[in-house]
Amino acid sequence: MAYRIGYMVGSLATGSINRILSKALLKVAPDDLEFTEIEIGNLPLYNYDYDSDYPAEGRALKEAIESSDGILLVSPEYNRSIPGALKNAIDWGSRPWGANSFARKPTGVVGASIGAIGTAVAQSQLRSVLSFLDAPQLNSPEVYINFDPEVFGEDGEIHNDSTKEFLTHYMNEYCAFVQRVLDVNAAGHI
Ligand code: FNR
Repeated sequence: MAYRIGYMVGSLATGSINRILSKALLKVAPDDLEFTEIEIGNLPLYNYDYDSDYPAEGRALKEAIESSDGILLVSPEYNRSIPGALKNAIDWGSRPWGANSFARKPTGVVGASIGAIGTAVAQSQLRSVLSFLDAPQLNSPEVYINFDPEVFGEDGEIHNDSTKEFLTHYMNEYCAFVQRVLDVNAAGHI
């Protein structure tokens, strides 16, 4: 069975290494996963004045999350935290109150940085936010990429066998996790 995965890239930069990582992950993902990017760069800055009349961009974001079987967040770390564009998108998806689009969505969190800890601090904060939003997350394996342009080609090809094997393993585990959470959701209890 195919699962629809909506992925968000937490960077708006044209040369984003996280966009490259997202391409690499899509290349090694099992055929059971079908990917659609969920745009985050077109959203206004959220505030609750919008709750009574969500703009088209906000509605489109919520519909994209809700029509996905699983969510994958591929994000840089900015100042040891979640990039503002991604946090803004999550805030849009979480509201209006009582209509949180992330609830019970199986979620994966990965990231690449030019620093040695590979977005570990931002990922930890993202996990806190997703926990609050009742979005179950794949806990292990974790993906902290210290980006090396010799390992990743611009189109997402992976030139290092062990990195390719590891990311393939991650995507297989993510697929199995999505299936498990959907089974639990369908059963209506844990
Ligand atoms: C960074 N960078 C960064 N790296 C890191 O490992 N930890 C950090 O806290 C930060 N902080 C930070 C803040 C801001 C505002 C910028 C622009 C950058 C460096 C970051 O890893 C590098 O720019 C990556 O290329 C960002 O990923 P994208 O945007 O290329 O996908």
